[in-house]
Amino acid sequence: MIQESEYKKRRERFAKKLKSNSVAILFSAEPKSRSNDTEYPYRQDSNFYYMSGFKEDKAALFFVKEKKKTKTYLLVHKKDANEELWNGKRLGVSAAKERFYVDDVFEYTQLSQKLKELLAGKSRLYYDFALNYSKVKLLKRYAKEIETFKNAATKIQKMRLIKSDAEIALIKKAVGITQVAHHRAMKKASLCKYEYELQAEIEYIFKKNGAYSDAYTSIVAAGNNANTLHYITNSAKIHNDDLILIDAGCEYDYYASDITRTIPASGKLTQRQKEIYNLVLRVNKEIISLIRPGVLRSDLQKKSEKLLCKGLVQLGILKGRVKKLLKNKAHKKYYPHGIGHWMGLDVHDSCPYKDKKENEIPLQKGMVLTIEPGIYIDRDDKSVAKKYRGIGIRIEDDILLTKKGCENLSAGIKKELKDIESFAHR
Ligand code: GLY
Ligand code: MN
Ligand code: MN
Repeated sequence: MIQESEYKKRRERFAKKLKSNSVAILFSAEPKSRSNDTEYPYRQDSNFYYMSGFKEDKAALFFVKEKKKTKTYLLVHKKDANEELWNGKRLGVSAAKERFYVDDVFEYTQLSQKLKELLAGKSRLYYDFALNYSKVKLLKRYAKEIETFKNAATKIQKMRLIKSDAEIALIKKAVGITQVAHHRAMKKASLCKYEYELQAEIEYIFKKNGAYSDAYTSIVAAGNNANTLHYITNSAKIHNDDLILIDAGCEYDYYASDITRTIPASGKLTQRQKEIYNLVLRVNKEIISLIRPGVLRSDLQKKSEKLLCKGLVQLGILKGRVKKLLKNKAHKKYYPHGIGHWMGLDVHDSCPYKDKKENEIPLQKGMVLTIEPGIYIDRDDKSVAKKYRGIGIRIEDDILLTKKGCENLSAGIKKELKDIESFAHR
C-alpha cells in the first residue's frame, strides 16, 4: 500500500517542475461504455492515480502555482444516495478532505467554475495532451489568457521511471501471484484441450489471490499461434506436440507484472523445439546478466539482436555472415520486437528513454524493465527447414535495477528445460 504522504511528496516534486504563474490539471479516466448501460470495469488513469491514489471517476486534480508556492485542489464526485444504490459508495467531499493532503477539496460539479476562477490571469497550462476532445474543449474555453500549453503527462511519466520502495513491493506482489499462475499452467498444460482452459487456470490464480485484473489480456498461444505477437483469441485446440507460449501477468493494486513462459503441451519438448528454446533462454539469461546502472538499454537491444542472429545462423535458419545479416536486419524477420520495456503502473510504462537533450537515459537504480527475447518461425515460412516451422518461443522476465546490478523479480518462475518439463508430471 502506498501512503498518502508518498502521494503528497510526488505532488510536491511535480509542483517544483512547474513554471510560476501556471496551472496544471489532471483528470480521472472516463468510464468506458460496453453497450447500452453496461460498462467495462473502471480503471483509473495511471498518471492521475500516480499523483493522487484516488480510484474514483469524475475527479480532477489542480496545481495552482503563483511565484514559488503551489496550492493543490482535488475535485471529487458528490455523494448521492440514489446513484450510490446502483454504483457503489463515493468518498465525497468531506471524507476526501480528511484523506488527501491537499489544500482543499470541491465537488466535481464545480469544475467549470473552478477552471474559470483558477485559470484567470495565468499564462501557462499543463494538461495531458492525450485528454479526450470534450475535456480539451472545456479547458480551452477557460484558457483564453493562457499563452503556453504544456503536456503534463510527459513530466509525470518521467517521475514514474524510478520506482519507490512501496511501488517495488507492489510489483513484487504482482510477480509473486503471476509466478503461482505460471506454475499452475505448467502443471495443467497436458490436461487442457483448448487454449482458453489454460487461460482460465492462470486467471483463476490471479483473482483467487486478490489481483482483480490482468495487467493486459493474457496470451495463450499454442503451436503456430505463438507467431502472432499479440494473439489474444485463445480459442484454438492444443495439440500434443505443440509448444504453448503463455504471456500473462496480473495487476496487483494497480501495479503490473509481465511474464512469458513457453511450455510443452505434452510435458516434453522435441529436439527441434529444444534447439530454439535453448537459444532464446541463453539470450534471456545473458542479457539479464549485463543489466546494471549505467548500461544503455539500446546496447541491450543490440546485444540481443547479435546473439539471436548468431544463434539463428548456427541453426541454419539464417545463412550468411552475422555482421552482414545484422546490417541488413535479416534477423528482424524472426525477432521483430524490442528486448523489453519499462513496467510499473502500466504494463508498458510510457516513460521516456531519452532526456531533454535527446540523449538516451542510462539504466538507474529503481527502474523496472522487462527482458523478453523471442524467436518466431511461421509455419508457412518456406525459407526455413521444415523441422523448425511453426515454432514461436519467448521468455520474458521482470527486472529491477539495484544499486550495483539488478534483481530478477521473476527468477522464481521456472524456465530451465528440465524444470518446465518436470512440472508437467507433478
Ligand atoms: N505482454 C506484452 C509484452 O510482453 O510486452
Ligand atoms: Mn509480455
Ligand atoms: Mn513485455
